[in-house]
Amino acid sequence: MNDMTPTREQREAKLEGMGCKRKRVEDIRFTQGRGNYVDDLKLPGMLHGDFVRSPHAHARVKKIDDTEALKVPGVLAVITAETLKTVNLAWMPTLAGDVQMVLADGKVLFQNQEVAFVVATDRYAADDGINKVVVEYEPLPVVIDPFKAMDADAPVLREDLAGKTSGAHGPRKHHNHVFEWTVGDKDLTDAAFRKAEVTIKEMISYHRTHPSPLETCQCVCSFDKIKGELSIWGTFQAPHVIRTVVALIAKIPEHKIHVISPDIGGGFGNKVGAYPGYICAAVASIVTGKPVKWVEDRIENLTATSFARDYHMTTEIASTKEGKVTGLRVHVLADHGAFDACADPSKWPAGFFNIVTGSYDFPTAHLAVDGIYTNKAPGGVAYRCSFRVTEAAYCIERGMDILAQKLNMDPAELRLKNFIKAEQFPYHSALGWEYDSGDYHTAMHKMMETVDYAGLRKEQAAQRAAFKRGETREIMGLGLSFFTEIVGAGPSKNCDILGIAMFDSCEIRLHPTGAGIARVGSKSQGQGHETTWAQIIATEIGIPADDIMVEEGNTDTAPYGLGTYGSRSTPVAGAAIAMAARKIKAKAQMIAAYKLEVHEDDLEWDIDGFRVKGLPEKAMSMKDICWAAYNSVPPGMEPGLEAVSYYDPPNMTYPFGAYICVMNIDVDTGVYNVRRFYALDDCGTRINPMIIEGQVHGGLTEAFAIAMGQEIRYDPEGNVVTGSFMDFFMPTAVETPHWETDFTVTPSPHHPIGAKGVGESPNVGGVPAFSNAVNDAFSFLGSTHIQMPHDYWRNWKAAKDLGAVA
Ligand code: CDP
Repeated sequence: MNDMTPTREQREAKLEGMGCKRKRVEDIRFTQGRGNYVDDLKLPGMLHGDFVRSPHAHARVKKIDDTEALKVPGVLAVITAETLKTVNLAWMPTLAGDVQMVLADGKVLFQNQEVAFVVATDRYAADDGINKVVVEYEPLPVVIDPFKAMDADAPVLREDLAGKTSGAHGPRKHHNHVFEWTVGDKDLTDAAFRKAEVTIKEMISYHRTHPSPLETCQCVCSFDKIKGELSIWGTFQAPHVIRTVVALIAKIPEHKIHVISPDIGGGFGNKVGAYPGYICAAVASIVTGKPVKWVEDRIENLTATSFARDYHMTTEIASTKEGKVTGLRVHVLADHGAFDACADPSKWPAGFFNIVTGSYDFPTAHLAVDGIYTNKAPGGVAYRCSFRVTEAAYCIERGMDILAQKLNMDPAELRLKNFIKAEQFPYHSALGWEYDSGDYHTAMHKMMETVDYAGLRKEQAAQRAAFKRGETREIMGLGLSFFTEIVGAGPSKNCDILGIAMFDSCEIRLHPTGAGIARVGSKSQGQGHETTWAQIIATEIGIPADDIMVEEGNTDTAPYGLGTYGSRSTPVAGAAIAMAARKIKAKAQMIAAYKLEVHEDDLEWDIDGFRVKGLPEKAMSMKDICWAAYNSVPPGMEPGLEAVSYYDPPNMTYPFGAYICVMNIDVDTGVYNVRRFYALDDCGTRINPMIIEGQVHGGLTEAFAIAMGQEIRYDPEGNVVTGSFMDFFMPTAVETPHWETDFTVTPSPHHPIGAKGVGESPNVGGVPAFSNAVNDAFSFLGSTHIQMPHDYWRNWKAAKDLGAVA
């Protein structure tokens, strides 16, 4: 070795592979305003579409008069349900097996529902046109309170379903009922409750909120009449699924549909489904022969395209008086709004809510979910969460705190007593999941030691004594949350979307000079895939991450994938990337053996190439192997170095975490101060610690928003009263607390690189930590459960109701 020969450490560092805090490559363009978003696209002759929307939450549409609108300069067309009926597109299928109006057909079912689509030469003309469309409505009684939707005399919302006693998920009990979904052993669970020494029962609501990405939903559709081809640029988290849906409903051959998701400014589940804007822009382009752009504004985004949560969970836990849990019984009233447009895998009407047993060893459990229709926007998307896992984690983590309070036991002690033990993995939960790996006790102890949990409880006791003496008006809360996530949808045996198995894919193509391109079926919306996918490849095949270009989002070039949501990218696409890289490595080994004139078995992998066992100086780097792949492969072997993998995971992955929030609340004003927030995450093998930290910071900020104020709220007439960022809490750096992050590493045993997802974890685990902190503080004043969101006013009101404020 001469002085110039790089050391092993230098060779390793040059790769910037897994475990490296590699800087995000996409930020070079994002921080310089050089991203390429849908609204940046300007095609020659492009038209603009905009919606006439309903001011009513429930009304019959008597007449739509577009006469004056068509006189507005620049307005070319007004599309209504009647127009769409001529092409059989007045209604569209939803991902949940329901149907949804594209444009109001006879009546409207929620405020801001799409009524007509005005197409014009520019956005301003379209907007002027909207104001000239005259719609005659006959208001109907509305159903906003989910608890009244199934009253015998509740108004019939879905007249199209009249007489249908069953839907996509089985029998319907009432005209506003969508489905009932049950899991678990009811008899055994009921028996556990009959025998229980201690039980708790609480209605725990997770309010309606919205993912509200910075960039709203939008698309540009361009139909080429000569070729019969439709190109769609859109904010799609799952572009291939959009292509298939368009082929199925518009009856255009799938190979003539080109779907492109360019850069996306945040998705958080909002950009998974298909919305009326996409259909109307496509139809308008087909009708006019011109490209048509549709871009939502903020109010439209918050009030019409999707929502999240709206789960009302009656939670019961049975336990011994020593605090060993013996049974869990949960009933959920799930408010789906006007149409069931939940973005869940087909067979899971309540997503993976049956992870509700959480991190605890419940011997038996039973879950029943009733989905109902109301006069609210449809959606039910997984807002930075894996299909209703956030609701489930909130339910069980509040439930455990309520049980601890009843038992007069420390909530940390109760959790430690009931955790699934490390030696119980793989663990079969009472509600049907097989948890892959976990070490909950280690994570919990690490969290408790780091924050000095015992010291915090002492401080809280002193603070409470001071409050009683009248020396302070602040109450202190410690919010614990120990969550188990389920991410990586999913195994084809139980997960599909519209019948398409939820695998994911990667194609890697290495060029002669030792650089390459990886095309992946996932689609980043800010998660940094271009950075981390290259790191997996770098470690697997020894090509520096900087020499691998990652491309996603073009259905013509990327292999078919099911997209990015529910933290499925690392568990599924990440695995496909590793598997494709391993195929390349296997071929590279054959080429190296041929070139080095040894048997393949005589070679061993060494950071960035192969070397002959026992003769380390006889070696060939991957860079040289790439060159050889294009000019001197073994006889009979095809030239080139590329591979594709479609990965169908054998199981989900189960990341987990231990969070704690320390909060003071002033009872006279309701103002809270998040004094400390510590988040320990275990996502198995860590690909890029810096990106993980960023994911956790972002997710915690969303969790903070949701728990402490963010809400889509309706008045009794069905008007959305939080339809803009003036009312919908969107925290800035000013309000956002400081985050401390930490980790343990428990690899997934079935994932090729041992990685689990992480993107959703902080939202899933963060919300219960905040809410438990508030509730822990108020428990001192005698309360058991206060519903979220815990904004200043509600905190003050709680203090007043509990007699702490005159
Ligand atoms: O599906 P989505 O991309 O939203 O979530 P994810 O699979 O949790 O990945 C989010 C980001 O964190 C990606 O850039 C991953 O590569 C990265 N990550 C990581 O570095 N290590 C992990 N064990 C999990 C995710």
